[in-house]
Amino acid sequence: MTVKSYIRGVGSYLPPRVLTNAQLAETVDTSDEWIRARTGITQRYIASEGQNTSDLGAAAAQDALAAAGMEASEIDLIICATSTPDLTFPATATIIQEKLGIHHGAAFDVQAVCSGFIYGISVADAMIKAGTGKNVLLIGAETFSRILDWNDRTTCVLFGDGAGAMVLSSTPDKNPEAGDGVLDTEIRSDGRYRDLLYVDGGPSSTQTVGKLRMTGNKVFKRAVKELSSSMVRCAEEAGIAIPDIDWFVPHQANQRILEAVAKRLDLRRGQVVSTVAYHANTSAASIPLAMDTAIKDGRIKRGHTVMLEAFGGGFTWGSALLSY
Ligand code: UT7
Repeated sequence: MTVKSYIRGVGSYLPPRVLTNAQLAETVDTSDEWIRARTGITQRYIASEGQNTSDLGAAAAQDALAAAGMEASEIDLIICATSTPDLTFPATATIIQEKLGIHHGAAFDVQAVCSGFIYGISVADAMIKAGTGKNVLLIGAETFSRILDWNDRTTCVLFGDGAGAMVLSSTPDKNPEAGDGVLDTEIRSDGRYRDLLYVDGGPSSTQTVGKLRMTGNKVFKRAVKELSSSMVRCAEEAGIAIPDIDWFVPHQANQRILEAVAKRLDLRRGQVVSTVAYHANTSAASIPLAMDTAIKDGRIKRGHTVMLEAFGGGFTWGSALLSY
């Protein structure tokens, strides 16, 4: 019998503090007009003092477990996609494991920056199919506010904090309308472009945490090109035509990127889930945050096909086609 990775539940968590463009413009040389026009962002959430990536991730995980109707004790593998771990080591996934009271199975982090959740789905799917995990908790959690240079207006206006999670399982959901789970994934990278989006510190090189640096317009152009072709390949591999896909849930970096990709693929208006206005770019957390928003407001329903995509530092990029 073919083993599949069914989507049992999706959840998310946002920290309580909202930082609007207008508030940001009080301390940074920018304006609400510029940020809205160039990115579509109106506000972002910022983690409270003492609230770490693992706290956000554990809260999102609990929400996903509740959506799946499952207990933490049923999870045998935790994967956390993050570029803002609590500590250099141990993996944030093990800290979340402890916070959820799970003392069996395995937990590790995936580091693919904004593409982390797509990489995580690919790894979770492969491990379920290999029989290594039966019930996988995949989390994307970030506190990018901690690695921003708040004096650099070209980057600090773009990012926010948050977490999202998904429970994938070899056992189908009890809901008869639920879909077939992960249909196909594609992950890619090209390290030649690492200087266009990176953090200028690390344990081995500088012994500091570092700050995020980006040449935004070069990232923008490459993202639009690679995302479009990645989704076409992913859909082709799954044997599904792009027009037959119900929803597109992209990584939320910039509304203009979402629109440019939608134009290239000739997507229908309203078919692309966008939360960038409220969440800003939450890196590995942005896809599950956006997907959970569209599930909770009733847009994405059981049985719908959903294409996820992301592009980020490395460069890394990829896509995942799901039947929810
Ligand atoms: O999640 C990982 C993937 N990341 C992305 O996909 C991000 C991709 N890049 C982008 O989203 C966009 O390139 C940005 C939003 C980062 C920038 O938008 P842009 O239209 O590419 O602007 P630009 O970098 O070409 O800058 C245009 C102007 C510059 O001024 P001059 O040189 O034309 O006088 C910047 O200095 O806008 C200026 N500028 C700002 N002005 C007000 C840059 N940041 C700001 C700001 N407020 N915050």
